[in-house]
Amino acid sequence: MRRVLLLILPTLIIIGAGLTVFGLLEARSVRERLMDDLERKARTVAESIALSAGDVLSISDVEAANRLVESFQKRERVQGCVIYDRAARVVAVTERISDWQGKAKPYLEEVLVSATPRGGLERFQEYSWYSYVLPVFDGGNNIIGLVEVVYDTSYLFDTLAEVWRRISVALIILTSLIVLALLTVERRTYALPVRQLTAWFRGFQKGEEDIVSPVRAKGDFGQLVSEVEQVALSLRVARRAAVEEAHERLQQEELWTEAKLRDLVQARLGENALFVVSNREPYIHIADESGGVRCVRPASGVVTAMDPILQACGGTWIAHGSGNADRKYVNSKNKLGVPPDDNRYILKRVWLTKDEEEGYYYGFANEGLWPLCHVTHTRPVFREGDWEKYKRANQKFAQSVLEELPARNPLVFIQDYHFTLLPRMIKRERPDATVGLFWHIPWPNPEVFAICPYQLEILDGLLACDLVGFHLQFHCNNFLDTVNRLMESRVDTEKFSIVRANQETFVRTFPISIDACSGAEEAEDEERRIQRARRELRLENKIVAVGVDRVDYTKGIAERILAVDRFLEKYPQYKGRFVLLQLGAPSRTHLKRYHELAAEIDELVQEKNWKHSEEDWQPIVYLNRHFSPAEIRAYYMMGDLCIVSSLHDGMNLVAKEYVAAKQGRPGMLILSRFTGASRELVDAVSINPYSIEEFADAIKYSIEMPVEEKKARMEKMRQVVSENNVYRWAGGLIAELTTIQKAKEL
Ligand code: G6P
Repeated sequence: MRRVLLLILPTLIIIGAGLTVFGLLEARSVRERLMDDLERKARTVAESIALSAGDVLSISDVEAANRLVESFQKRERVQGCVIYDRAARVVAVTERISDWQGKAKPYLEEVLVSATPRGGLERFQEYSWYSYVLPVFDGGNNIIGLVEVVYDTSYLFDTLAEVWRRISVALIILTSLIVLALLTVERRTYALPVRQLTAWFRGFQKGEEDIVSPVRAKGDFGQLVSEVEQVALSLRVARRAAVEEAHERLQQEELWTEAKLRDLVQARLGENALFVVSNREPYIHIADESGGVRCVRPASGVVTAMDPILQACGGTWIAHGSGNADRKYVNSKNKLGVPPDDNRYILKRVWLTKDEEEGYYYGFANEGLWPLCHVTHTRPVFREGDWEKYKRANQKFAQSVLEELPARNPLVFIQDYHFTLLPRMIKRERPDATVGLFWHIPWPNPEVFAICPYQLEILDGLLACDLVGFHLQFHCNNFLDTVNRLMESRVDTEKFSIVRANQETFVRTFPISIDACSGAEEAEDEERRIQRARRELRLENKIVAVGVDRVDYTKGIAERILAVDRFLEKYPQYKGRFVLLQLGAPSRTHLKRYHELAAEIDELVQEKNWKHSEEDWQPIVYLNRHFSPAEIRAYYMMGDLCIVSSLHDGMNLVAKEYVAAKQGRPGMLILSRFTGASRELVDAVSINPYSIEEFADAIKYSIEMPVEEKKARMEKMRQVVSENNVYRWAGGLIAELTTIQKAKEL
């Protein structure tokens, strides 16, 4: 639009200015012509009157003078006539303009003095009149009086207005024709080829076959087309070569690594890159009060697991742009390359209004589904308004995903409980898509799930997936039971799938994990970081138990503090020697329940520190802020113990991160048996966080465990985590999804 305006506006200004000048000249010439004409007519009439007026004036016959002026008033457009004596006094005046007598007429004196006729426009009674004055002579050539003829000039202005009207019509017609011509030329030479080239290149990116662009152009534009074609060709060749290499390497490797996953994705998906959707984005741009912007990695299990996958394989991650500076960092399609300093994949941000975020994320997802799925005795809240916004937000994400999908057989991998309706929305538009959803939290039993008023819509949405993944077999069983009880469908317990309306949904376990090798810095840097933290927090020579959590009521942070309290009561020999270093990343603080929890934890920490503190020792160091992965890693490394006391947790990656970070150093993991991780990390010290007594004893037991036993247990757990790493998790899921995809193609 702007381009078209730029083209048309100057043309319009030039035409407009040209026609205005032409109009002014034309109007002036018409006016002059009309005035000449009027003067000629007035002169003829005045001369005719003057012929008789000479006699009338010489004998001062007023009656004859009156007859004379009345007889001339009927001439074309004449308003009236006046006969004056030599002193410019009125002798006779046409009745119709009798008021004319009262008008001041200095020009009469001029005519008497100069003895020459005079014509001109005069204003009288708000109107414009034309007056022509002729001197009347006697036989001796002396002026004996004057004759004045007065005309109505309104027709003169009507004629001029008509001239302007004609010019305006010409201007409009001419302008329209020129604009039309310009638009046609612009469309044919620019807009159309650019649109064709854009459509072709977009199609190419989505995997459409045409190698040669449909645009045939010459000159500069032709060169651009040719360059774009070359880029497209090289990209295609590079992609094909990469797929073949990946196939070969895949046959050789055994342990799941970043490279092996990359090969699998290349070999199975080829040009069809990976599309991941989650609510939480992996990189958030946050502006602080001083105007500076920080790029933050949020505390989220989904982010911890998925970021290394996308970094390894590339692709597009679509997520809610929740940072207050997020909009500053995206391109015109709301995309940016991440990680910011080493762009490995594309992050596409979806914008939600405050109202949508409130209803969809805070309301339905986190006050409804989150407590519904976690056994923590927090009552779920379902509001109709939240549900409406949840649906709307899912629709917004669907739109954003659909815009990106390649032409054929795309693969979409959705994360978590925020998007139960998204699979159906995608499948409705793209039945050829293969859609997988991983449920990162527990799935409750059918009785609990049936509390949800929107149970059928949610199940219907999820059953549009080709694959639904859970961490544990137990959650898979719960899901199958739920569908079996609440929906018309066929559950196949052999294949572990659900068939409904011609769609088969496979249900599988994929225990999520971490990249066991990531985050390691130079050993010296790490050691320096650890020593600094020990000094700053006064942890030198102390037995440190670390806790790393989002401040969430599912994490059992209060129970952990109570257990430390009981431990110190029961085993006072550890006073002054033991410290719980609790990192708490603020989370969902906008919700009342989370706000209250934060206050409850603050209060408990203060109370127990007050109760037990001695000299400069306090049993609990509580750091309630956001931490970077590198900072957290240093705390893990200094932790003689790590305590994970979730009341209920789908997996819990902190437990795995601690085991991986210790790298053979002695340490011990105290792990709630209500976490998914406890099924794999069987060498941890297992606790029931609700049993404060057992929990307190577990702390003592872990501290006092012989170093050799600690080392052996930690080593076994380290092996589990490095084998069952996140690449294996993603590899299993993607392999399963692509197998389903292939089967559908047959
Ligand atoms: C859990 C959920 C994730 C979520 C994370 C952090 O791990 O499974 O989907 O991202 O909590 O919560 P938040 O609401 O901050 O994203």
